[in-house]
Amino acid sequence: MSYTVIHADCFEWMACREEYSITAIVTDPPYGVKEYTESEMEKRRQKKGGIWRIPPSFDGHARNPLPRFSVINDDPCERQNVYDFFYHWAKLVIRLLVPGGHVFIASTPLLSDIVSRAMREAGFERRGEIIRTVSTLRGGDRPKGAESEFSELSVIPRGLWEPWGLYRKPLSEKTVAENLRRWKAGALRRDTNSLPFCDLIPSGKTPRLERQIAPHPSVKPQEFLRKLVYASLPFGTGTVLDPFSGSGSTLAAAEFWGYDSVGIEKDAFFFQLSQSAIPQLAKLYPQTVSLSG
Ligand SMILES: C[S@@+](CC[C@H](N)C(=O)[O-])C[C@H]1O[C@@H](n2cnc3c(N)ncnc32)[C@H](O)[C@@H]1O
Repeated sequence: MSYTVIHADCFEWMACREEYSITAIVTDPPYGVKEYTESEMEKRRQKKGGIWRIPPSFDGHARNPLPRFSVINDDPCERQNVYDFFYHWAKLVIRLLVPGGHVFIASTPLLSDIVSRAMREAGFERRGEIIRTVSTLRGGDRPKGAESEFSELSVIPRGLWEPWGLYRKPLSEKTVAENLRRWKAGALRRDTNSLPFCDLIPSGKTPRLERQIAPHPSVKPQEFLRKLVYASLPFGTGTVLDPFSGSGSTLAAAEFWGYDSVGIEKDAFFFQLSQSAIPQLAKLYPQTVSLSG
């Protein structure tokens, strides 16, 4: 078995782990920090207020709760909490990564600027942003309480994409080529047809089968994660870390490619779930060879 999931707080785990032991990070953190805290998860499970809200229903179907990030975006103290969390996190991560190691980190358009500032100030180079197209029920609403009066307006765009920040730990060698020879890191693996890794990835809702195998509120699609994970190890060697591994979808993608990976998950329920979900997700769509398109 080439993956390991650890039931722990990633901050504590990373602080004890040896320097230069990780080659790449592919992760989907709690975007707004607080949505996966024990108290917010309890409110979600009890369906009692908190940051998780049921999106408006327009076609009669019941919706699953989604975190409402405008709650955080509108409050300077909350924004500072997000900055502090990611700055502290990035400082721990940069120590673990080999020079030239990449970080792929999911975010939301409302908060990605804060994460980006924290990552840069912790010492990372920003290498761009990957756009995962999605179809959410976030945004697009008419002004609250005056929906008929302003029926032709939306307060905020409907969210149709998810930003994934791409960062790199600075090289230790003079050139990318020298860094690749020494650390096996510093560049992105081209896809299986030798096309460059592209920053616009058509995606969508996680397929029902994957959500049944891994019923986590934020489970990401295998098709999308396999593209990121594949690109993250230039030679397919080294270790991919997901410090917020949830149901283990990143580790499943790594397992699909035969990459070594480690996941950290602090919630006992999601940790247990990942043990059964990873091998099942990794076995899906065995015919996938091409990453392009
Ligand atoms: C957005 S979800 C990731 C979901 C994952 N991408 C999947 O497909 O299942 C974030 C996860 O990070 C976990 N988490 C939050 N804070 C953590 C911490 N300090 N250490 C480890 N895990 C943490 C949460 O319990 C949650 O499962």
